[in-house]
Amino acid sequence: MIRAFDTVVVVDFGAQYAQLIARRVREAEVYSVIVAHDASAVEIASHSPKAIILSGGPASVYAEYAPLLDPEVYALDIPILGICYGAQLITLQLGGEVARTGAGEYGRTELTPVAKSTLLSGWSAPHDVWMSHGDSIVRAPEGFVVTGMTQHAPVAALENLARKIVAVQFHPEVGHTRDGQGVIRRFLFDVAGCDPSWTHQSVIESSTEGVRELVGDKKVLCALSGGVDSAVAAALVHRAVGDQLTCVYVDTGLMREGESEQIEETFRAQFAINLIHVKAADRFFVALAGVTEPEQKRKIIGELFIRIFEEVAREITDVDFLAQGTLYPDVIESGTKNAATIKSHHNVGGLPEDMAFELVEPLRLLFKDEVRAIGEDLGLPEAMVWRQPFPGPGLAVRIVGEVTKERADILRGADAIVLEEVRRAGLDRELWQSFAVLPAVRTVGVMGDERTYAYPIVIRAVTSDDAMTADWARLPYELLEILSTRIINEVDGVNRVAYDITSKPPGTIEWE
Ligand code: XMP
Repeated sequence: MIRAFDTVVVVDFGAQYAQLIARRVREAEVYSVIVAHDASAVEIASHSPKAIILSGGPASVYAEYAPLLDPEVYALDIPILGICYGAQLITLQLGGEVARTGAGEYGRTELTPVAKSTLLSGWSAPHDVWMSHGDSIVRAPEGFVVTGMTQHAPVAALENLARKIVAVQFHPEVGHTRDGQGVIRRFLFDVAGCDPSWTHQSVIESSTEGVRELVGDKKVLCALSGGVDSAVAAALVHRAVGDQLTCVYVDTGLMREGESEQIEETFRAQFAINLIHVKAADRFFVALAGVTEPEQKRKIIGELFIRIFEEVAREITDVDFLAQGTLYPDVIESGTKNAATIKSHHNVGGLPEDMAFELVEPLRLLFKDEVRAIGEDLGLPEAMVWRQPFPGPGLAVRIVGEVTKERADILRGADAIVLEEVRRAGLDRELWQSFAVLPAVRTVGVMGDERTYAYPIVIRAVTSDDAMTADWARLPYELLEILSTRIINEVDGVNRVAYDITSKPPGTIEWE
């Protein structure tokens, strides 16, 4: 990253909310990074933050190993917002009192403003906030004004504007808190004086500059998967270094309908990117013949993909860089310390030693929603930018039993109908994934006067935030009816449609 943006450091106390807080800050057009709770004051200061936010967390401040904030942070003279656990920590570390009152609050709660407040400006009683706490703040530290209370939390909001340290017991980052984003904005702009400069356009400009500086006049290779991340990464790298980029797209024969055509249309026709389109379906079907075990399918597909990529890469000489669509959540999860670097040296995903590339990861600082927004700004088609996640091994893990061209064609046809009708019903962005599955059984049916003996198609549609857990989507009956009729009428080899009503756990999202 070339340009210096005002930065907010979000200190993660172990709740699932830290990423959400960081995203909300960015929605307010201020750049944010997440650091672990044990980050020292020196480490936090190394980001030159304009403000610090302490997240909520599952622990009690009185637990034996309760995560604490390095007390030196308070001496940095940087504005701080504490949320939930973060608010209790500020209270405790600055001399107030937190108690196990035995009266926790969970979910929607009414807050009453009790003093003039910068954070709660414009609020009147009762104001809906979202709570999740067992312990309660019972006495604010000296110098703090209590600005809000609820039935069971005598100190639900507090401010020390002289020190620019403010705190709320509720969660402003969740949608259930009315004007929660307002609280975050007032902290960023009225308390901390941040500059709202993290706009999509400025992100594109600084990423482009960053890639240009890193790559210089060297060549870059990028594997397009059909998914949004590799597409946006390629578009950004192309914007930075033009013809120095070559994209490789391997059609495994296991892609969704129209995907290969869309890649041709977007990257070759619209963007005029050097595109090598490898039509390798036959090789994949040969390699998969007779294989039914899911993990073996994955291994075969992964290895063949690498081999083909390697063949192509060897033909293009002097390639130094490989562009990848790594996102910020991957960076946080893999515990990488300095998330701001877009360059790292290591061998990539199974490529042989002598093919070690340097990585260009232009999305390394971004969340998925930012990647989508930037993709749209760069002119990528809406269908590509908003595409649901798709597994690397493609349709193979949705074909139970042997993967053959004939069975892949049946599934692709049914899947296209599912996606088309879900989109027509306006549900595609609401659902995490919606797709068709082809089981390895055949059942008896009757069509016209004829007895049929053909495959069923199972429809799978789930809601989820992160794919770790998922619930089956309550699709409208009318939509299910259309799907059933169209799939049976239009896809040869199918005579029955079923709907999967299994959540995860105990099921997984994919069938294999
Ligand atoms: P499961 O089926 O484990 O899927 O609930 C969770 C998420 O991961 C995707 N998935 C994969 N992605 N290679 C991938 O790149 C794979 O082998 C693979 N298997 C599952 C799945 O689509 C869902 O979003």
